[in-house]
Amino acid sequence: MAYETLKLEERDAIAVVTVNRPDKFNALNTQVIAELADCFTTLRSNAAIRAVILTGAGEMAFIAGADISVLAELDPQEARENAMRGQRLTELIENLGKPVIAAVNGFALGGGCELAMACTLRIASENAKFGQPEVKLGIIPGYGGSQRLPRLVGKGRALELILTGEHIDAQEAWRIGLVNRVVKRDQLLAEAESVARKILAVAPVAVRYSIEAVNGGLETPLTEGLALEANLFGMCFTTRDMKEGTGAFLEKRPPKFTGK
Ligand code: COA
Repeated sequence: MAYETLKLEERDAIAVVTVNRPDKFNALNTQVIAELADCFTTLRSNAAIRAVILTGAGEMAFIAGADISVLAELDPQEARENAMRGQRLTELIENLGKPVIAAVNGFALGGGCELAMACTLRIASENAKFGQPEVKLGIIPGYGGSQRLPRLVGKGRALELILTGEHIDAQEAWRIGLVNRVVKRDQLLAEAESVARKILAVAPVAVRYSIEAVNGGLETPLTEGLALEANLFGMCFTTRDMKEGTGAFLEKRPPKFTGK
C-alpha cells in the first residue's frame, strides 16, 4: 500500500515510520489511523524488520491528537467505533512482537500521547510536550489513555493529567516515568536508533517473549503473570539462540544470534 500520510524508511533491520501531516501537527484523521494500521500490520509480519521507530514530521509535533475536525462530526455510535479503531491500533503497536520506540519530537497530545504510550519505549526531545487534553473538548481519552497512563505513571498522576488537561514538558514526563529519556532535538532519531540497535544485538525470541511477559503480566494477577513468565522462560530453552547465548558466554566469545 502506498501511504499518503506516512513516510516509511528502512535502515537495515529498523523501520522508521513518520506521521506526515505537519501542517495539521500530524493529527490523526481516519486516513492516518488506517495507514498506520496497515503499516504496522505489514511490519509485524516482515521478519527482516526487527525494530520500529515512530515519529512525527516537522519541528512542532509528534502527533497533536485525534483530528478534532473529524471528532466534531461523530455521532455516539461512530465515536465508539472511532475509539475502538484507535484502540486496535494501540494494541497492534503494543503487541507487535518487536520493539517500537516512540521518538517524540514535539506535541504528543491526546491520541498522540496514547500512541506513544502503546510503544515499547519513549524517547523525547527537549521541546516535547505531553498531555491528555480531551476534557477541554468535553470528551475523555479514547485510544487507551485512561488505561495506559495510570499503568505507566500511577493513578494519581494520571488523573491529574487527565482531569486538568494540562500539558507537561519533557523533563516532567521523564520525572514521572512517562518517557525513558530526554535528549536534544537534533539527537532524537540517532538516540532512538542507538537504543534500537542495542536491542537488535540480543536474542530476538527473548526480546519477543520479554515484551509478551511484561504486557501479559500487567493484565493478570501476580500468580498468573508468574506462570506466564515460567512458560515463556521454558520456551526460550527450545531455541538455538539460548544454546548460542549461554554457550558463547561460557566460551568467552560474543554470541551470534539467528532468531531461531
Ligand atoms: N486536530 C486537528 N487539527 C489540529 C490538531 C488536532 N488535534 N492539533 C493541531 N491542529 C492544527 C490546527 O488546527 C492548525 O491548523 P490550521 O493552521 O489549518 O488552522 C495547525 O494544526 C497548527 O495548530 P495551532 O493551534 O495553530 O498551533 P499552536 O502552536 O497555536 O498550538 C497545539 C498547538 C498543539 C497546542 C494546539 O493546536 C492544540 O491544542 N491542538 C489540539 C490538541 C488536542 O486537544 N488534542 C487532543 C484531541 S482529542
